[in-house]
Amino acid sequence: MLGGKTVILGVTGSIAAYRAADVAGQLVRHGAEVHVIMTRAAREFISPLTMESISGNPVRTEMFAGHSGAMVHLDLARSGDVVVVAPATANVIGKVAGGVADDLLTTLVLAFAGPVLLCPAMNPAMYANPIVQRNIRELQELGYRFCGPEAGRVACGDEGRGRLAPPESIVERVIGLTKGVDDLRGVRVMVTAGATREPLDPVRYLTNRSSGRMGYAVARAARDRGADVVLVSGPTSLPDPDGLTLVPVETASEMFEAVRHRLPESDILVMAAAVADYRPAEVARKKIKKQDGRLTVELEPTADILAYAGRHKKPGRVMVGFAAETGDPVEYAMEKARKKGADLMVGNDVTRPGAGFDVETNLVVFVFPDGRCIRLPQMDKYEVAWRVLDEVLTIRGGVAGA
Ligand code: CTP
Repeated sequence: MLGGKTVILGVTGSIAAYRAADVAGQLVRHGAEVHVIMTRAAREFISPLTMESISGNPVRTEMFAGHSGAMVHLDLARSGDVVVVAPATANVIGKVAGGVADDLLTTLVLAFAGPVLLCPAMNPAMYANPIVQRNIRELQELGYRFCGPEAGRVACGDEGRGRLAPPESIVERVIGLTKGVDDLRGVRVMVTAGATREPLDPVRYLTNRSSGRMGYAVARAARDRGADVVLVSGPTSLPDPDGLTLVPVETASEMFEAVRHRLPESDILVMAAAVADYRPAEVARKKIKKQDGRLTVELEPTADILAYAGRHKKPGRVMVGFAAETGDPVEYAMEKARKKGADLMVGNDVTRPGAGFDVETNLVVFVFPDGRCIRLPQMDKYEVAWRVLDEVLTIRGGVAGA
């Protein structure tokens, strides 16, 4: 996905510097040409030789040393498609925010006209410091992108937000940035994801096997294309994506309310959630005790959110639904598109390998209410998400992105 792209990876002096090796390795595996710049402090944590072996290119460390062309930073700035700084310390963030260019990396960042992704990693107290937060805010306002940090235990043993984002997330953001499209800038996208939980009693609920991965991928892809994204999510084990508004919900009726409330301000609705069709008609206030014999639970239907949105559709709003079926999804998906008023249904057969729940890939077919369908090969869920958004743009009458 990064074939023909040049990524400049800046590594700064955080304990997380060793994870830059993984980032570089994954970028290379995706086909990128990777050039690594290390600050002096980074070299205390990881050897340039490691980064050189993984990237397959000489590592640059100094502004003036050892290179025939004196303008290393300008050569790199011209050749790169994306600059990613992972890990980015409070120090480098502060220097970039202040316009300081006192080493090769900061000079390059200031000279670079393309997208810059900063991946902070530091002690949680440092990250929470208002100065650091102000610097991040100011850089974001100037168009610098951030990935992470994540919450958890950091190397020094403290707990809080400060861990470097997982290399997979960093690489995914880089892929999004190299696509070089901003075709959803200013567009308001609402995505639903995950399963809902319908309580039976205070300790039990009915749910399904949706992991939320597909919906999260759509939300991240929309964000990466510049959209203002609201992600209405049932409970999942996925990390909270940054750069979007996350609205956590639990039941189908909470999801319905969250969507209904925000629908008037949405230009695009992608219903990737596996919403429960039924919920227990009565929720026991106390734990249901075991009895002899069978137990019958009466279920009542939940509201169909997509169908509601279809009935309240404003001109120009594009609606996408998902249809996870056991067997060829085309016929059911077509019927659902027509019945619910969706412009596109993304169907998949969850029994096929590489297309089910909790896997990173999907094998989908796009089904349109006019009877057309497009079968896509098996691909990463993020890539599927990107293709879904391409179709959405075509439906909106825009030009689909790369
Ligand atoms: N959907 C919804 N609200 C519901 C049920 C489903 O908005 N209460 C949406 C899903 O998010 C998905 C689409 O409708 O985008 C199709 O969901 P699916 O469960 O496949 O459709 P159903 O109409 O429930 O059909 P069935 O379960 O019988 O296959």
